Amino acid sequence: MASRRQVILGLGGALVAGTAAGTWRVMRQPDNAIAPWQALSQPVADPRLDALRHAILAPNPHNRQPWLIRLDGSDSAVLTCDLAKRLPETDPFDRQITIGFGTFIELAAIAASQRGYRLEVEPFPEGEPQPRLDHRPVARLRWVADPALPRDPLAAAIALRRTNRQVYASLPPGRLAALAEPGVTLSDDAELLARLARITVAAITGEMETPAAHMESVNLMRIGAAEIDAMPDGIALSGPMIEATSLVGLTTRAALADPASTAYRLGLEDLQRTYGSIPAALWITTPDNSRASQIAAGRAYARATLRAARAGVAVHPLSQSLQEYPAMAAHFAQVHSLLAPDGGQVQMLARAGLAAPVRPAARYPLEAHLLT
Ligand SMILES: Cc1cc2nc3c(=O)[nH]c(=O)nc-3n(C[C@H](O)[C@H](O)[C@H](O)COP(=O)(O)O)c2cc1C
Repeated sequence: MASRRQVILGLGGALVAGTAAGTWRVMRQPDNAIAPWQALSQPVADPRLDALRHAILAPNPHNRQPWLIRLDGSDSAVLTCDLAKRLPETDPFDRQITIGFGTFIELAAIAASQRGYRLEVEPFPEGEPQPRLDHRPVARLRWVADPALPRDPLAAAIALRRTNRQVYASLPPGRLAALAEPGVTLSDDAELLARLARITVAAITGEMETPAAHMESVNLMRIGAAEIDAMPDGIALSGPMIEATSLVGLTTRAALADPASTAYRLGLEDLQRTYGSIPAALWITTPDNSRASQIAAGRAYARATLRAARAGVAVHPLSQSLQEYPAMAAHFAQVHSLLAPDGGQVQMLARAGLAAPVRPAARYPLEAHLLT
């Protein structure tokens, strides 16, 4: 039976059929936006730029890519946060944005090892900003030549890693263990996962029903290939269905914001389906919620996702119940009592399973992050 999505696709397809331009528009992919994934084999003399062009491919919240980089001297770089790229409604204390610096740093360290450099990382060298990030550096990085350093084999997975938001099939027995990484808990316990799915579905539904939180996402949606190429960040909606329905005015930012619209309802149903599809899960708990712990959680998450990419396992974070705004309080309490009954802060939670591959997500080029 055709899903409602396919019906809409059929409708959009019918409306634009018959013109070459319409077909081109419907089939168009955001190719410019993924160029940073394809440039990795071109030679780069400065090992810092080589590591950093890998680091910008890191998973990060809402794909905001808030990393500002100042190259310092001949061997260092200072990272600061582009404060305008934070997510104040759903991430009021910049916890997740900070995790996205941890993922960035881990990819930089892995890539640096390929050129024989150990990445020395000094997190928050001028102190930990609380309760929100400020203009002080998030980290100071130094490339130290170290001929004895082994090359990290996860480097080859950097360009393969994706966040995959499809419905998942179960993993073959034993495959989940491929994601094992210090600090990361893995589970395929059916009873726990069923309880977890009830929390994650309730939390994503709660987010969509909280206007300020939902609008934070809607305002960052990039609808169709032309928008994604022009603004390669945020939440990308792409593919023939989106192109066709946006062409006929069904998928618009106004419709996605309106709980009475078909676009909103289909979007919510799609999220409920995927947020409830948890054949396996991974989570990262830290004993405290310091900025250093958030960076460490991001580093561990990056490594687990690279292991997943290498093993052909799809991964998708489900962060809503971990978020610290009032509408999430009950979900936050439930997810912590389920996953961290002995205390601590659950910093990352993701589902894992098998799914068809997806295209890489958009990225700004490295130059867009470099401060001169
Ligand atoms: C701290 C953090 C939280 C995230 N939370 C979610 C989430 O709740 N839902 C989701 O679909 N993706 C989530 N993501 C994934 C990002 O949206 C994704 O990394 C980004 O869009 C870039 O895509 P990529 O991972 O395919 O490169 C999260 C990523 C990080 C680092």
